[in-house]
Amino acid sequence: MEPIKTIDEIRSKVEAFKADGHTVGFVPTMGALHEGHLSLIRRAREKADKVVVSIFVNPTQFGPGEDFQDYPRTLDRDLDVCEKESVAAAFCPTEDIMYQGNQYISFQIDTLADHMCGAKREGHFEGVLQVVNKLFNIVKPDFAVFGQKDIQQFVLLRQMVKEFNHEVELVMGEIIRANDGLALSSRNAYLSDEERQIAPGLYRSLKYLKKQVKNGVDRVKLLTEHQKDELEAKGFKIDYLNIFTFDTLKPVKTLKKERMYIIAGAVYLGETRLIDNVIVEL
Ligand code: PAJ
Repeated sequence: MEPIKTIDEIRSKVEAFKADGHTVGFVPTMGALHEGHLSLIRRAREKADKVVVSIFVNPTQFGPGEDFQDYPRTLDRDLDVCEKESVAAAFCPTEDIMYQGNQYISFQIDTLADHMCGAKREGHFEGVLQVVNKLFNIVKPDFAVFGQKDIQQFVLLRQMVKEFNHEVELVMGEIIRANDGLALSSRNAYLSDEERQIAPGLYRSLKYLKKQVKNGVDRVKLLTEHQKDELEAKGFKIDYLNIFTFDTLKPVKTLKKERMYIIAGAVYLGETRLIDNVIVEL
């Protein structure tokens, strides 16, 4: 499968699909495709006639000292995978094509990025919105599928679509996991064998918290502090492990019936940052 590199080319391709009466589903990625990405592609195929995938390691969403340089880049393999999954077009622009000249305008995010990953990864979500805003304007899909794995990203994109009147329906894809529960991630490739053994502990903690919460335990701090200690004892370094409101992504102190919450964590094993979450409805 040949990658489409220019904006003009992908635009005319999508225009041709639409002229033929097809709907278009879109799966933006940074490549190093794994089963998690594939599940989004399959979900897009259920919703739309033609699936467009983008593969672009977006520099503006990486902070100083983050892994932009080391991020796995496996374009040939990714294109093979896209072909096998009957992807209709793979948009793989260069940095110059996506970001021509000076960038004078940027996104500013209010409270939705104050907690969870937004708290530590300064500028990360501004970069995500910047690139996805561009991608939506380039591809103009009918549907776009994003994973629950990056739930804060999903909530922010949903808000961007609403506030900026994008004509796209967002679809949330479930989290795909390895047999031992570890959420698949391109960054899992950084884990040593020993770290890989420990890594599913994060999901185990999230599941334990969900069970406790479902059983009526509502002292959030007590619950989460105990799980943080457990994870630290196993060798994790904790960025956050907490329960957040589903809509506003604010940490909660107590839980109420008939509400939706996100139990989410971000941890380090060595230098590798892992995130995961579960949704709970009371
Ligand atoms: P990337 O990390 O490549 O992820 C692309 C999509 O795959 C995202 O929607 C993400 O939530 C989803 N995904 C990752 N791991 C998953 C898993 N285990 N199961 C299901 N879906 C999973 O997210 C990005 O790229 C970028 O921020 C992007 C949106 C492309 C903007 O640059």
